[in-house]
Amino acid sequence: MRKKIVAGNWKMNMDLNEGLALAEAINSHYAVNPPDGKEVIICTPFIHLGMLSKLITASGVSFGAQNCNDHRSGAYTGEISAAMIKSTGAGSVILGHSERRTLYGETDELLAAKTAEALRNGLRVIFCCGEVLAEREGNNHFGVVRRQLEKGLFTLTTEDFVKCIIAYEPVWAIGTGVTASPAQAQEMHAFIRQLIEGRYGGEVAAETTILYGGSCKASNAAELFANPDVDGGLIGGASLIKEEFCNIVSAL
Ligand code: PGA
Repeated sequence: MRKKIVAGNWKMNMDLNEGLALAEAINSHYAVNPPDGKEVIICTPFIHLGMLSKLITASGVSFGAQNCNDHRSGAYTGEISAAMIKSTGAGSVILGHSERRTLYGETDELLAAKTAEALRNGLRVIFCCGEVLAEREGNNHFGVVRRQLEKGLFTLTTEDFVKCIIAYEPVWAIGTGVTASPAQAQEMHAFIRQLIEGRYGGEVAAETTILYGGSCKASNAAELFANPDVDGGLIGGASLIKEEFCNIVSAL
């Protein structure tokens, strides 16, 4: 049975004290109410990572980063390596988020290199894909997602691929308040699972967790998660409010 997961993507929000307080509130909640077979991941800014391993103690709860560099170490001023992230006790890293692709010019090829480096260091990769509105309106959304996965992720061996989680995030739904309809989410998730089956076989496809992201909140999470191929969510804005985030986990 594939894992059901809710991951929070804090983006560039929360200073050190605010972030530790939020992480502590989430951890205390799950220390008392275990997430019941589901996994909860909080992906914070780098500045929090070093202090989270002491703070996150509830079972089923873990933490991760939102980016890593594709090189091992060296003269890359301002960058953070996968090994550094791993050394904090983090378990995961988000790669290929549309904000990184658009604002920082991250290409499919760079993302393939980052993914390989993250996996080499024992991090689980939450790999994002998704189309912009014009691509959907031009009926090119399946083609775009196929390209992102084939070039960025399907370069992996089966052994490495099974350590990845996929997040489908239609760019037009991110931070806009416009959510994909449950039918639109299911349609794309089923398509992604078919692509995985074509590349890695049916067993791997059935075991791959595919998250939905894009204006997912407590009030719409249940209908999105009710779809057979939607295995949880990658949550941006709503992951910054403890109650809201925990209610999304409960909806799963
Ligand atoms: P949102 O962001 O939930 O604020 O739309 C999701 C994401 O970008 O991961």
